[in-house]
Amino acid sequence: MTGELSPIDKAKFVAAKRAADYVEDGMRVGLGTGSTAAWLVRCLGEQVRDGGLRFKGVPTSTRTADLAREVGIEVISLDEAKWLDVTIDGADEFDGDLNLIKGGGGALLQEKIVATASDQMVVIADIGKEVEHLGAFPLPIEVIPFGWQTTQALVEETLISMDVLGRQSSLRMNGDHPFVTDEGNYIMDLHLQRIGNPRQLSLVINQMPGVVENGLFIDICDAVVIGYGDGRVEVRDINEGTVEQERLDFLETDNLFTDLAD
Ligand code: 5RP
Repeated sequence: MTGELSPIDKAKFVAAKRAADYVEDGMRVGLGTGSTAAWLVRCLGEQVRDGGLRFKGVPTSTRTADLAREVGIEVISLDEAKWLDVTIDGADEFDGDLNLIKGGGGALLQEKIVATASDQMVVIADIGKEVEHLGAFPLPIEVIPFGWQTTQALVEETLISMDVLGRQSSLRMNGDHPFVTDEGNYIMDLHLQRIGNPRQLSLVINQMPGVVENGLFIDICDAVVIGYGDGRVEVRDINEGTVEQERLDFLETDNLFTDLAD
């Protein structure tokens, strides 16, 4: 155990712990990427080891694949699974319609493919991710390296006619070099501040040559499990609104807390 977790880590942990209940024996499960998803993978790994849970996981990044194998989860590819019962993943923002911005961890492409190939997508997030309007978090778009500056110019020009407040963009860096995704592409972050029409923006961005995919998840998420720093969790369903509120016992006693690295 590494000592006291921050309230935000507690919130992420309880959301992940509650969301692990969606996974049942025999399921094929999409495993998201990011710090909240890493909690989920650890929780599920514990249930595999100690509780005899049996399921197959489809990771959305090499990071998640490595962690899943490390904690004892059987990992298969999406093509082996073909279709998934549920995908559980984090998000950078979610709004009242459960539309999302994702890709803060640079895995949006695999995340969107996997979530779309699932009967159900469940998002796990701390309450700080809730927004009235998407866009304060920079919108990541995955672009191919060839001609990326031309693509960037085209994107910025196109944003002039979109319902957004900002139009700046920046190439995501990893030290001195561009950040490279698992697919060998670059990520451009769009600093839009506020997105008036996420559906339209998503369609327009994806039509541009050079853009592979964008981080707007529209009509993909079915439920959000929201964690609070005091251990409360709330489940919001796309059709029924808030369907559950409870407080989870928070015990920093098990080996889930030994490695907090994302
Ligand atoms: C990775 C993602 C993550 O789900 C998102 O960035 C949230 O991350 P975290 O749980 O670390 O806050 O989209 O591409």
